[in-house]
Amino acid sequence: MSGKRSGNRREYIIREAREGDLPELVDFLAKLALHVSGAPPHELKQSEYKRLLRTLHTALDDPNKRLVVAEHHTAGLVGMGYVYIWRSQGIWEQSESVEYKSGIIDDIWVEPEFRRMGIFKALLRELVTFAEAHHASELILEYSASNKEAKEAWTRLGFKPTGVRAAAFTSSVSQALAGNQR
Ligand SMILES: CC(C)(COP(=O)(O)OP(=O)(O)OC[C@H]1O[C@@H](n2cnc3c(N)ncnc32)[C@H](O)[C@@H]1OP(=O)(O)O)[C@@H](O)C(=O)NCCC(=O)NCCS
Repeated sequence: MSGKRSGNRREYIIREAREGDLPELVDFLAKLALHVSGAPPHELKQSEYKRLLRTLHTALDDPNKRLVVAEHHTAGLVGMGYVYIWRSQGIWEQSESVEYKSGIIDDIWVEPEFRRMGIFKALLRELVTFAEAHHASELILEYSASNKEAKEAWTRLGFKPTGVRAAAFTSSVSQALAGNQR
């Protein structure tokens, strides 16, 4: 557990998530999805709410997953972060049988009123400590190209784009291919 002190008071702590936190964490995930899509506020379907609750629940007692929260001393939960360890084997006959481990970072959210206070970095410290303890030699994540604050925060920590995820409407690809027919 870690935290930030102001005077004699601890403003927030970073700790492992508990079962009782999960409903609030699902709300954070819903806000994150709206933030990424740029859509106006929506209510989650009950089925989706339950699915997310189940997914987060699997992180609580899986030794390869770490779900952490930032808890403010008066406001309660104000942020979350998640990492899991992904294992892969070398694919070439000539190479020794080596297992590579990566830390996949996902679901980072800090409540808007609590941003620019270092909470993201405090969450990240916990996730990176976990990845290091599992000998994960690299950290991988995705953020959308339009997410300016995510780009800023990740770039400052040394993350660089390593690929491009592209999307197009099926109908427009179909039209483009029809136009290219010889
Ligand atoms: C991205 C996000 C997690 C950052 O959280 P935060 O607690 O405000 O970040 P911190 O205060 O720890 O700042 C981390 C660094 O990023 C910089 N930063 C954060 N937000 C920024 C912004 N909007 N513009 C420019 N720089 C920014 C900070 O200055 C700081 O840099 P420094 O280390 O050089 O001082 C937060 O804005 C957020 O929850 N956004 C919506 C959800 C999201 O995009 N999640 C990430 C998806 S991958």
